[in-house]
Amino acid sequence: MVGNLWHKRIGSGAGIVLLLITTGAYAAAPPPAIVTTTCAACHGVNGISVAPTFPDLAGQGAPYLIAQIRDFKNHKRADPLAKSIMWGMAATVPDNKISEIARYFASQKGPAPGIEPAALVSAGRKIYMGGIPSTNTPACMNCHGPTGRGLPPLFPRLAGQHIAYVTTQLGYFKQGLRTNGSSNIMHTIASKLSSKEMSAVAAFIRTL
Ligand code: HEC
Ligand code: HEC
Repeated sequence: MVGNLWHKRIGSGAGIVLLLITTGAYAAAPPPAIVTTTCAACHGVNGISVAPTFPDLAGQGAPYLIAQIRDFKNHKRADPLAKSIMWGMAATVPDNKISEIARYFASQKGPAPGIEPAALVSAGRKIYMGGIPSTNTPACMNCHGPTGRGLPPLFPRLAGQHIAYVTTQLGYFKQGLRTNGSSNIMHTIASKLSSKEMSAVAAFIRTL
């Protein structure tokens, strides 16, 4: 990026204007060491995960990531995949590194939109944008945003997330297996979704 420009007025009366002109992009912050040695094996060094069962963390809100890492550590997020995988991983994260890791993943570019079967995407779009009036299911976009970017600190980003991860989590919410944080908000919503509806809305989310 050529011509990045910062200007700063020094002293209210003096009116001296300092111009800093740079010609190169600043290097992004390097990943914290534990990301490279541990987390990257599943979530990728840039937070784009290596398999659809592992969530992408790139572009996710930092407060949400902090809350989840803490809740894996203190065993409040206790769904089956949390217990079998993330409890052990989070145990290796020192408390004073949680926020640095979260900020690192939050600053990475989120996943690129995927391409999914048109009929499924269109059924999913209806649910995401308009809910399911017959069962009083609210539109997902009310909280996760029309483009799925989420609304920090409470509402996580969904855009581009893996279908397998999304449907698994919706199942955990529906069965009351994921109960940490604000997940009770999702319990009623997920309990109204059939597995067909979950697959459709997950396909649409992947295309965001
Ligand atoms: C062996 C694979 C693996 C490794 C390594 C791993 N994770 Fe995970 N991670 C997972 C799985 C699987 C889940 C989904 C857990 C669940 O369903 O509760 C997950 C979930 C998460 C989530 C929640 C994301 C969300 O959208 O709610 C965060 C945050 C996270 N991991 C951070 C980390 C950090 C930080 C490390 C490194 C210290 C790490 N993970 C290492 C597999 C892994
Ligand atoms: C009233 C607000 C609200 C609505 C509407 C809503 N959600 Fe959520 N959703 C949340 C909150 C809050 C969380 C975070 C829960 C937590 O802190 O554990 C969440 C979490 C999720 C997650 C887990 C994300 C992750 O990274 O693990 C998925 C998947 C999800 N919602 C899908 C949906 C879908 C699909 C819909 C529409 C059918 C929907 N949500 C509608 C509030 C909402």
